[in-house]
This record gives sequence, structure tokens and C-alpha cells, in this order.
Amino acid sequence: MSQIAEKQTPDAPGSAKDPAARVILAGLSQSRKTLPCFLFYDVHGSELFEEITRLPEYYPTRTEAAIIEAAAKDIALHTPPGSVLVEFGSGSSRKTEILLSALPSLSAYVPIDVSRSALDEASARLAVRFPSLRVFPTLGDFAEHLSLPQALSKRPRLGFFPGSTIGNFAPADACDLLSHMAENLGPSGRLVIGVDLRKDLSILLPAYNDADGVTADFNLNILVRLNREMGADFNVDDFAHRAVFNREESRIEMHLVSLKAQSVELLGHSFAFAEGESIHTENSYKYSIPQFKELARRAGWFPREVWTDPKSLFSLHELTIAH
Ligand code: TRP
Repeated sequence: MSQIAEKQTPDAPGSAKDPAARVILAGLSQSRKTLPCFLFYDVHGSELFEEITRLPEYYPTRTEAAIIEAAAKDIALHTPPGSVLVEFGSGSSRKTEILLSALPSLSAYVPIDVSRSALDEASARLAVRFPSLRVFPTLGDFAEHLSLPQALSKRPRLGFFPGSTIGNFAPADACDLLSHMAENLGPSGRLVIGVDLRKDLSILLPAYNDADGVTADFNLNILVRLNREMGADFNVDDFAHRAVFNREESRIEMHLVSLKAQSVELLGHSFAFAEGESIHTENSYKYSIPQFKELARRAGWFPREVWTDPKSLFSLHELTIAH
């Protein structure tokens, strides 16, 4: 997905009809402006996100990796031989390697991601480290219907959804997504899912606003991308990254704040910004362990295990359908 909308140039008259363009225009037309989070992950955005995962302030990735490491044996004990591992939003598949080493009897690994480059790189790396593993890279949105290769359709499925990506959905949508995954994983399905926990703001805020400004670049890259791919004229220096914790909603909110009164042209539309007005680009909901279990139950799952780190920063849940 290197182009948001293939045939578009700034002066192509039909371009505003493209589905992605329509979502973008609708978001910017609201009284509280928003942009869709699918804009984050172009090639550069995916690289910046990889860099975020290595930042000292961004505790989720390394904390979750350590939890998976410690839980892998237990997960393997619950996994029947010949199972298929399906990963939703696989990205670089780094954390998956920990599971794959603990699960030698898998019949296949199905990584699903919207980034072709991330899928290609991960598959090439896994082919070297796990030469006998069958990998079926699947380009697409993990929230859509999953069709597994015919040969695998009867195998038990283990879903893997790390990174607290579930936290990027509002609770009602998260619930829909979890029930959708339950359907896709079938009656003997299980899901191992990473969920970031509520915590002190002194730890939480820097994770979304690091000292080197990588997260700021990641957020601002959306505007760079709209300029390049849709002919917008955002002056990127006139916007700043801001991350705030919304206590009532229990979520980190990511915004791009307009540093002055200005207007921006996009696909023949003009959008006015007041000084200090923001575009809301992403949410990252934080749960307590009981809150997340409750959400999973509402979606038709049965919480079977939960693992956490010594500081209770992050949680890894194993959910089952049959029990
Ligand atoms: N799933 C990640 C999270 O919520 C995504 C993320 C991390 C992110 N840092 C970000 C999204 C900065 C937007 C901006 O932690």
C-alpha cells in the first residue's frame, strides 16, 4: 500500500471519490478533525514505528517480548500439534520468533499485514531461521475476513495479536474485532493477545512523546504522506505532535496541533485551522486486567491465562472459545 489512492494527482477531478480519500476528507471536515490511522504505515512510517519499538521510553515492545519469552512453554503446552499460527498485523514478526521457537510442531504460520515490504522482509528472515516452517504471507487488513489456504482449513488455529494493537480500537470496536477473530479462528480457536495496562503518567506519557522526537516524526509523517500522495499542501513545520492521557476514556490520544491559524488545500477542498486546533490521529486505550477480561467475555471468549511483568506494565492474555 505505497499509494493511498492509485490514480491520483492533485488535479485529477475524480480523485475525491476514492474510498481512502473520502475517509480523509470526511475526517478533516468534522468539527473535531481526525485522520485515519491506516495512514501511519507507509514504508517510511513502518520504519519509524520499528524505531519507536526500540526507544528507551517505549516500554511495551520489550516488556511484551519478555512476557512472551516466559509464557512460551505454557502456550506450547496448550497448542495441539499441526496447529496454524495466524498473526493479525504481523509487522516485522520479531515477537513471533519467540513463539515459533517454542512451537516446533506448527503446520504453518499465516502473517497478515497491510505492509507488503514488512511481509516480504519478515518472510525472508523466517525462511532462514525456520527452514521447515510453511509461511503464507497475507496482504490485507486483519479486521477483514480471513480465508486460509485450503490445505490448512481443518487445522486448529492459534491467533496471535501482540503489541496492544487492540488498544488502538475504541472498546465497542475492539469487542466487534475480538468476536470477528473468534469466528475466524473457529470453535477450537485460541487467541494470545497483548494488552497494555493503565499506569503512572510518568511512564506512560514519555512512551508516546520520546526525547528524540521519533514518535513526533511518526505522527507528522501522515502529513508528509498526504502532501506526496494526494497533493495536499500541509506545511509540516506548522504542526506539532502532542500526546495526552484522557482519564475518562482511559486512553492516550495522539494529536497534530496547528501552531498558527492557517488553511490547507487537499483534493480541491480547503480546511481552516485555528491556532492550537488539532487533528486527532490515534488512540491507545489502556486497560486493567479485569477490564480486559470483561471485554473478551463480551466478545465470546473465555479468559484462560494471563501473564504480566514484575512491574505490571503490560499483560499477555490467552483466550479460548471452547472450555
Ligand atoms: N499499538 C501502538 C500503541 O498504541 C501504536 C503506537 C505506538 C502509536 N506509538 C504510537 C500510534 C504513536 C500512533 C502514534 O502503543
